[in-house]
Order: sequence, then structure tokens, then C-alpha cells
Amino acid sequence: MLNDLLLRNRAWSARRHAQEPDYFTRLAALQAPEFFWIGCSDSRVPANVVAGLDPGEVFVHRNVANIVHSSDMNLLSALEFAVDALKVREIILCGHYGCGGVKAATEDLPHGLADHWLEPIRRLARGYAVDLGRERDTEARRDRLAELNVIEGVRRICETPILQRAWRRGMKVRVHGLIYGLKDGLLRDLDCSIGPGHFQPPDFHQEAAQ
Ligand code: CO
Repeated sequence: MLNDLLLRNRAWSARRHAQEPDYFTRLAALQAPEFFWIGCSDSRVPANVVAGLDPGEVFVHRNVANIVHSSDMNLLSALEFAVDALKVREIILCGHYGCGGVKAATEDLPHGLADHWLEPIRRLARGYAVDLGRERDTEARRDRLAELNVIEGVRRICETPILQRAWRRGMKVRVHGLIYGLKDGLLRDLDCSIGPGHFQPPDFHQEAAQ
């Protein structure tokens, strides 16, 4: 199995080199991606492939069910590097229909550590119970919950001090929420994009209304 993988890598490297002889030298010298992608670990949703992007074009962080935990040092480190060092223009949080993580969060079964990880999705499911109840069946409810998880995640990214500081410094970075369909290979825009000026933290110091 591993041998197969190494052979495929050699064939790919040779093909790439034949197409563009300075490809690897160029990429080794610099990465300057426009996009930072936060997606699900699911093997069927690889960022580069589904977005049609080459190596070097997208900086990637993936975790189970593409959850934005406000204290996830892994995600926050990648986010800070993407915004402050790489200066990406677009941050894409991408969920997908048929997500196993969302399914696990809505099952009444123990999943070990994943139950802690997936807690924000269960909280969303409780908060939106009435809306989700209007969906025709369990699969549709889970897919709607996957969308809500993305919309909530976009807001959480924008609430991080990393984005707040970047916008205060005048950076134009925008955050978008997409969802990918495993059945048709298409990305859909959830129309929840947030950019500079569209999101302000609550004004803690404002005077009480008279
Ligand atoms: Co998933």
C-alpha cells in the first residue's frame, strides 16, 4: 500500500516537472496563497481538488466537522499565520452535506472524545430545534445543521482578536461560508460573508439609552 503511494508520488512529480520545469523550485522558494481554507477532515472534501486549486494556492486547516472552537490553538495558529504572515485575501469556511461529524453529533450514541469535540454542533441543534424540525427528514435536518455550523463558524472566526486586529489595521481580508455537496461535487455559497466594516464587536462602553 505504502509502496503504491510512493510510486504514484514519483509519477506525479515527474509529470508536474515535465509540464513546468521550474514548478518545484518556484514553490519551494515562496508560498503566496490568496485563500485560507478551513474544512472537514473527510477524505472526500480535499480543499485543493474541490476548489480546483494547485499546490501553493490555498493554505489549509481541516478538522472533524470543520468546527471553529474559539480556543483551538491549532486552528488559531493557522489562522494567525494565514492573516498576519501570508496575508490571504479570502478565508473560506467550508462544510459539506452528509458530514459524519454532524451525524455523530445528532446520534444518541457514545463516540468518545468526539463527543467533546462536537459539542458546539449539539448546542446549535438545541438552539435551532424549531427550525430544524421543519425539515422533511433526518438527512435534511443534518444537512441544514451542517449549514448552520458553517454560518456560526464564520461569525466565530470574525470574533477572534486575529480578525478584529487585522480589520483595525485596514486589512481587506473577507470570511466566507460555503457548503460542498458530496453528491454533485458542487460548492454553494451560504451568503454569510463578512468583511471589514460589516462586523463590529458590541460597544461595551456606550452610554445607556435614555
Ligand atoms: Co465531515
